[in-house]
Amino acid sequence: MIPILEASRANIHQAALLLKAGKLITFPTETVYGLGANAFNADAVARIFEIKRRPRFDPLIVHIAHFASLSLVAQDVPKDAEVLMEKFWPGPLTLVLPKNRSLPDLVTSGLPTVAVRMPSHPVALSLISLADTPVAAPSANPFGSLSPTDASQVADSLKYGVDLILDGGQSPLGLESTIVKLEGGMIFVLRPGALTMEALEKASGKKIYLKAGQMPETPGGFGTHYAPHTPLYLVKPGQIPKLPKAKKLGLLAFSKAPKDGLFAAVRILSAAEDMTEAAKNFFSSLFWLDNQHLDAIVAEEVPAKGLGYAILDRLRKASRHR
Ligand code: TXA
Ligand code: MG
Repeated sequence: MIPILEASRANIHQAALLLKAGKLITFPTETVYGLGANAFNADAVARIFEIKRRPRFDPLIVHIAHFASLSLVAQDVPKDAEVLMEKFWPGPLTLVLPKNRSLPDLVTSGLPTVAVRMPSHPVALSLISLADTPVAAPSANPFGSLSPTDASQVADSLKYGVDLILDGGQSPLGLESTIVKLEGGMIFVLRPGALTMEALEKASGKKIYLKAGQMPETPGGFGTHYAPHTPLYLVKPGQIPKLPKAKKLGLLAFSKAPKDGLFAAVRILSAAEDMTEAAKNFFSSLFWLDNQHLDAIVAEEVPAKGLGYAILDRLRKASRHR
C-alpha cells in the first residue's frame, strides 16, 4: 500500500523534501493527479517510466512554480509562447519549447524540445516551489489507462513504486492540460485539453491548428488511450450499439438518463449540459463505471465545442480497442 497523506502544510513540506531527494510523489493539480520526480534526477525519472509501464519514447511534462525557473528547462523561448504563458500560466496550458541541454534527455525522450507547464493548483505550486526544482510529472496512471482526478483513483491505479500520495481532493478541471507547439508563427494543439481551442484563439488572435499524427507529436496518437479496462463503445446520444454477447452494460450519458432499463449502471456527465461540470466528472465517472463489473461501457458523444472537444478526443481514443 502506498501511503496517502492529506495535503497539509507539513505534509507538503515533507513531500517536497522527498521529491528533491529523488523519491516519487503523486500530487493533485487542477487538471489531473501527477506522478512527480525531480526532473534533474535521471534515476528518479527512469522510475516514472517503469511504474507507468510507459514507453521511453513518450516524453514527460516538466512542471515549474515560478517564471524564473523556465530557463532551467527551456531556452530560446519564442515571443508568441511568452504571450501565451503570461496569459494562461499558472493553468492548464503546456508549451512545447526548445530544451535546455542540462535537462536529462530521458525526460524528453531525447527530443530537442521540452513540454513545460505551470500548474495553478495551490498544492502543486507549493510542492514544486518547496522542492526547489522543476518536477517531471505525467498523469498518475499506468500508460494508456484513465487519468486519476482524486487520491483514491491514484491508489487504485498505481500499486507500487510511489513513495507518497498527497491527497488534495478532487482535481477541479478534470481533464489534462492542452499541449501547444509554436512553429513558424503558427499555433498547433498537439493534445486538446482543459484550456479550450476557443480561449487560445481569442488570446492569440490567431487560427489554432490541430496537429494529427504519430506520438510524441500528438499524445495518445497510437493504440487505446485514456481507456477503462472494460471495453468502451462510442455512440451518438440515444443510440444503442450492436454488441456481441454483452450482457451487463453501463452507460456514460452526456445529460439524460435513458428511459428503458437496458443499462445496469448509468453515469450522467452534466444534467445541465454544462461542459465545465462534464469535464470535471469525466474521468471519475469512467473510473466508477469501470468498477461495476460490466461487460461493456457505452459512452455517448458530447458536443464537440469548448471542453466537449477535449472530452470527445479522449472518448475516441478510449474506444479504439478493436
Ligand atoms: O494536465 C496534465 O498535462 C497532466 C498533469 C499531471 O500536469 N500531465 C499529463 O502528462 O497529462 P502525460 O505524461 O500523461 O501526458 C503528456 C503528454 C505525453 O503524451 C507526451 O507525448 C507529450 O505530453 N509530450 C511531452 N513532451 C513532449 C514534447 N517535447 N513534444 C511533444 N509532446 C510532448
Ligand atoms: Mg497521461
